[in-house]
Amino acid sequence: MLRIGILSAASIAPGALVDPARLVDGVEVTAVAARDRRRAEEFAYRHDIANVLDSYSALCSSDLVDAVYICTPATLHHHWTLAALAAGKHVLCEKPLAANAIEAAEMVAAGVAANRVMMEAFHWKYHPMAGRIRAICANELGSIEHMEASFTIGHLTNRAIQFDLSLGGGSLMDLGVYPLQWVRWVAQNEPSIVSAHAVCDPPGMDLQMDADLRFDRDGGAGVTAHVHSSMQPGGPMGATLDVRGSSGSLHVVNPLAPQMGNSLTVVVGDVSRTEEVDRSTTYEHQLRAFVAAVVSGQAPLTGGADAIATMTAVDAIYRTAGLLPRGSTV
Ligand SMILES: NC(=O)c1ccc[n+]([C@@H]2O[C@H](COP(=O)([O-])OP(=O)(O)OC[C@H]3O[C@@H](n4cnc5c(N)ncnc54)[C@H](OP(=O)(O)O)[C@@H]3O)[C@@H](O)[C@H]2O)c1
Repeated sequence: MLRIGILSAASIAPGALVDPARLVDGVEVTAVAARDRRRAEEFAYRHDIANVLDSYSALCSSDLVDAVYICTPATLHHHWTLAALAAGKHVLCEKPLAANAIEAAEMVAAGVAANRVMMEAFHWKYHPMAGRIRAICANELGSIEHMEASFTIGHLTNRAIQFDLSLGGGSLMDLGVYPLQWVRWVAQNEPSIVSAHAVCDPPGMDLQMDADLRFDRDGGAGVTAHVHSSMQPGGPMGATLDVRGSSGSLHVVNPLAPQMGNSLTVVVGDVSRTEEVDRSTTYEHQLRAFVAAVVSGQAPLTGGADAIATMTAVDAIYRTAGLLPRGSTV
């Protein structure tokens, strides 16, 4: 049995880990720790978790857990991932993996050195929808020419961690990392950043980000992509991916969380069809992959080079938009 401890009583933890753990064999949530013990006790009571630890450090070194799920704000992921790995634990760390690419590379290296799994919780990639998107793009659209990807949420309150620069906030860090991953997933390549424009409030804190990317291709025209994220208060909620190829197009509704409704519309010539994928949760698939990585050594899709590449692109978009990557002073 893989025993997981939750590091912080974050609002994402029940949906992303506690509930899926009840559906996945071979895994159990055995402990939780929060900055304030009473908060952890309430969380443990509400979610039927047997043990409460006094602090994040105590959780990392506890004999009650084999793995730690880190769901603090982004700027704390690096510190607590290194602490958990040093204590011999496997790590499932929330997205974005780190404040920037330097931290991400250190976390990946620490996982390798400790011979422990260090997986980023980019749950969408573990759902069958991710494979369906790739298959349609590879087999039906001809040569990929352009992509548009967007994730917007308008209901976050400005007290949320996502609005706090010192905690790694910003629409690209919180939301834009998903569309950035979708276009990289289809291109199967890393982009150069052509242009980027941020709408900030306060200065440096991107409420909205638009970036134009190019993926170079050997012996042919490159693929272009536009990535959009916004957490402008009152704005619309939506997650979409559009892919245009030389023979057809694909419109995906909700590549993020297909369990909440989804569709894939393919148009080739005059023929159009819409299909859906199943509504099993991305978090359940993610947890199965984490267990498989720990138990059978199956390399996870997220973590390693992919995690570093995500943060490298994030840093480059911030710099192109005239902003500093999170955690950077120069
Ligand atoms: N996978 C997904 O679908 C998904 C969705 C939303 C968010 N996320 C990611 O999950 C992480 C947590 O997001 P969330 O929305 O769950 O946030 P949240 O509800 O605000 O929880 C963040 C937790 O971080 C802890 N924390 C430690 N130091 C803190 C500080 N200085 N200020 C504020 N909180 C601090 C708090 O833990 P204590 O309990 O110890 O006080 C709090 O419970 C982020 O990395 C976010 O990007 C992922």
